[in-house]
Amino acid sequence: MQTLNVGLIGTGNIAPAYIEGCAPFDIIKITACADILAERAEAFAAEHRLIACSVGDLLARDDIDIVVNLTIPKAHAEVSLQIIKAGKHAYSEKSLAVTREDGAEILKAAKAAGLRMGCAPDTFLGGGLQTARKAIDDGLIGAPVAATAVFMAHGPESWHPNPGIFYQKGAGPLFDMGPYYLTALVHLMGPVARVSASARMSFPERIATSEALKGQRLPVEVNTHVAGTLEFASGAIASVITSFDIWGHHLPMLEIHGEDASMNIGDPNFFHGTNHILKGGTRDWVQLPHSHTINIGRGAGVADMAYAIQSGRPHRVSGDLAFHVLDIMCALEESAAQGRRIALQSTVEQPATLPVGLAAGELDM
Ligand SMILES: NC(=O)c1ccc[n+]([C@@H]2O[C@H](COP(=O)([O-])OP(=O)(O)OC[C@H]3O[C@@H](n4cnc5c(N)ncnc54)[C@H](O)[C@@H]3O)[C@@H](O)[C@H]2O)c1
Repeated sequence: MQTLNVGLIGTGNIAPAYIEGCAPFDIIKITACADILAERAEAFAAEHRLIACSVGDLLARDDIDIVVNLTIPKAHAEVSLQIIKAGKHAYSEKSLAVTREDGAEILKAAKAAGLRMGCAPDTFLGGGLQTARKAIDDGLIGAPVAATAVFMAHGPESWHPNPGIFYQKGAGPLFDMGPYYLTALVHLMGPVARVSASARMSFPERIATSEALKGQRLPVEVNTHVAGTLEFASGAIASVITSFDIWGHHLPMLEIHGEDASMNIGDPNFFHGTNHILKGGTRDWVQLPHSHTINIGRGAGVADMAYAIQSGRPHRVSGDLAFHVLDIMCALEESAAQGRRIALQSTVEQPATLPVGLAAGELDM
C-alpha cells in the first residue's frame, strides 16, 4: 500500500509521542506540523525534521493526506472541522469534542465529504486490551456480568507544563482520563444503553506545584470526582470512578467479571497491559500470555486509519466510537446534575479485533 503523508496541528506535550508511535508504520509518514504558536511549531519541526507551517498553510498543502489534531480539548471541534473542510482525513486526540452537538457536526461533515474521522485513544489496539478482548470473545471468562474501572489521582498540576487545561470545560478527570477507560469498556463489552452518576467539584481552584509554574492558581470549571454506573446493552453493569481528588488508593484500574471467571486488566492508558484470570472455584490469578504485540504506541490508530482509507474497510479507532464515548461522558454529567438515569442517544459496534500474528509495523495481514 501507498504511504500517506500526515501533518500535525498542535506541537505541545503529547506531540513527541506521535512522532515515536507513528515511526514503525511505513504506511504513514509525518511530514509537517503547525501550532497556533509559530515558534513552537518551528522548534518542533527543527527537532524532528518536519516542515513548519501555519495552520492555514498546512491545510492548503496538496501533499498531506491525514491531519492529526493535537490541540487542547476545547479547540478539537473547531480544528477537526477545519481539517475536514480542507478535504483532509482527520484524526483527533481525545476527546472528539466537548459537546454532543459539536461531535455530531464533525461526524456529519466527515461523512458528507467522504473523509475518515478517527479519534484517540488507540490504546485498545495494544497487546494488553487486544488479549483481553480475545479472552472474552473466546469465552475464557463467560459472558461479562460486571466491570469496574477506576482512575483516581490528585490532578496533573505537579507535572504538566500547561495544567490549567485539565480544569477547563471539556477536561476534568472524566473527559481527560475517562476516554481510556470507557473506550476500553466498549471495546471489551459493547455499547452502553443507560448511565447514572454522582459528581462533585471538591476544590474551587488548584495550585500548580511543578518547578516551572510553582504557585500558579488554576481556576476549576469542572467536576473533579465523578462516580458512575454504566448499564450495557448486553445487560452487564460497570462501576466507573474518575477523580482528580484522591491522594492514593489500592483499587484495580480495570476488571471484567464474567459468569465463569474474573479478569484483571492492565492500565488502559497504555498499550502493554498484562491480564490475569481467576477461574470460578479457584484461588489463584493466572497470567494470560499476550496474543497480540505490545510493541506499538500512540499513533497506531492513525496507521490503522491509513490502511482503512486504502482498502475501504472500517477504521477501528473511529469517530463513531469516540462519539459513543462522548455521549457516555455527557450523560454521566447530566445524570449527576439532574439526579436521574440517562438513556444514551448513540450506539456503536465493537471495533474489529486486530489479526493475530501481525508482522512488526503492520496492522493488516
Ligand atoms: N499530555 C499528555 O500526556 C496527553 C496524553 C494523551 C493525550 N493527550 C491529549 O492531547 C491533546 C493535547 O494535549 P497536550 O498535553 O499536548 O497539550 P499542550 O497544551 O501541551 O499542547 C497543545 C498545543 O496545541 C496548540 N494549540 C491550541 N489551540 C490551537 C489551535 N486552535 N490551533 C493550533 N494549535 C493550537 C497549543 O499552542 C499547544 O502547543 C489533548 O487533547 C490531550 O487530552 C495528552
